[in-house]
Amino acid sequence: MKTPASIRPVRKAVFPVAGLGTRFLPATKVMPKEMLPINDRPLIQHVFEEARSAGIEEFIFITGRYKDMLIEHFDYQPELMGVLESRGKADLVQKVRDSEMPAGKLFTTRQPKALGLGHAVWCAKKLVGDEPFAVLLPDDIIQHPQGCLSQMMDVYRERGGNVVATKDIPRNQTHKYGILDVASDNGKTVSVKGLVEKPSPETAPSTLCIIGRYILQPEVFEYLDAFETGAGNEIQLTDAMAKLLGRQAFHGLRFDGQHFDCGSRLGFIAANLAYGMNDPDIGEDVKKLIGK
Ligand code: G1P
Repeated sequence: MKTPASIRPVRKAVFPVAGLGTRFLPATKVMPKEMLPINDRPLIQHVFEEARSAGIEEFIFITGRYKDMLIEHFDYQPELMGVLESRGKADLVQKVRDSEMPAGKLFTTRQPKALGLGHAVWCAKKLVGDEPFAVLLPDDIIQHPQGCLSQMMDVYRERGGNVVATKDIPRNQTHKYGILDVASDNGKTVSVKGLVEKPSPETAPSTLCIIGRYILQPEVFEYLDAFETGAGNEIQLTDAMAKLLGRQAFHGLRFDGQHFDCGSRLGFIAANLAYGMNDPDIGEDVKKLIGK
């Protein structure tokens, strides 16, 4: 299906990576939580690869203090490459190459204070400019051959507007997420008429939550500019998105693939087991290890 001319391509992705990672202390005392590995690559590389395979061309990191390692990770490492090549380790050379950012495509800015996800995204306003963009939260890892963002791009190319990834959660969990208020639902995509950040189970308009993947129109910055605080006294992205409703189309996609909340230690371990089981080198041994 041909994309209508009014639907502009999504070329840029924002990665908020300024968080402290307190749930993983002391591992994250010096090392950014986004550098914790799921199998053989750090969290940030999983989301980078998902964005790249969805067609993203420019990568914007919102960093903070002690996050320089994240930038280093994507740099070209001539000494390491030289050693691997001289030893004939073609497979490792390829793996390291996969972690390189194309020249001139990585942009960084800083969020000086942890004022909320909305504020983190607002920090990218200048770098995003006047075009649609994606946001990927590295805490949310989704295991799927096509990738979650690529699935969302399919929806976006057909319908335009704004798209978030969504999944059904138990009602007693609604206070941990942004929750959708649904106008219509075809089982795969939902049309959104309201958005609430971290509502109590009693007041939540549904049990469909936002998972950390967004395709947004630049008009969201008009609302983020207000610096209004919401749930947890933070500047919430969900609240700014809610203000776009009625003005622009808004869809939720029940994506295919398994989601892991790697912001929690349990989700992190589950992700490591799932990616380990899927690994051609160690998969069978991982399965034996856990009796699968
Ligand atoms: C953020 C968003 C929330 C979303 C969640 C997904 O919350 O504010 O709407 O559901 O990410 O992971 P946080 O996890 O930063 O509290």
